[in-house]
Amino acid sequence: MLYLWVKAFHIIFVVAWMAGMLIFPRYKLHQVKSQPGEPLFETMKEASVKLRRIIITPAMILVWVLGLLMIALNQSLLTQGWMHAKLALVFILSGFHGYLISLGRKVDAATGEVSARKLQILNELPFVIMIAVVILVIVKPF
Ligand code: HEM
Repeated sequence: MLYLWVKAFHIIFVVAWMAGMLIFPRYKLHQVKSQPGEPLFETMKEASVKLRRIIITPAMILVWVLGLLMIALNQSLLTQGWMHAKLALVFILSGFHGYLISLGRKVDAATGEVSARKLQILNELPFVIMIAVVILVIVKPF
């Protein structure tokens, strides 16, 4: 029974993490389209700091903790090809998390390095990876 509770909360925090990763670039996009000191820029800057601190980073940590707990409770999962592929993708997703936050800092500093186009393209990546991860963990194709 414990395993199912852990899996349920794993998925709850997966949803929060993915939602945050899809909203954060949107906030930054609004900032890129405005100037430091303008109400929109400052509002989006504050909102994205809260989003990062309250949702995205805690959710990522909890997804990892609960995911690794399930592996500890069911170590045979580590012999499964789909789990290897899943772990590779979630490492990429976690790296992307860090990259997105570093881009966010550049937007806050208004360095001009981050274009709206780049943010629009990057906005899709977490969703594409999530599709692959969910198919791997539900269908277990290999
Ligand atoms: C970040 C590191 C992660 C680890 C270590 C991890 C590990 C695991 C493990 C061990 C299970 C149980 C598998 C089973 O009992 O068959 C599981 C289930 C699941 N994981 Fe993750 N996971 C991670 C991230 C994610 C992410 C990012 C997503 C989605 C984007 C995700 C979606 C799911 C789903 C939907 C299930 C339920 C599968 C089922 O009901 O059989 N996980 N995860």
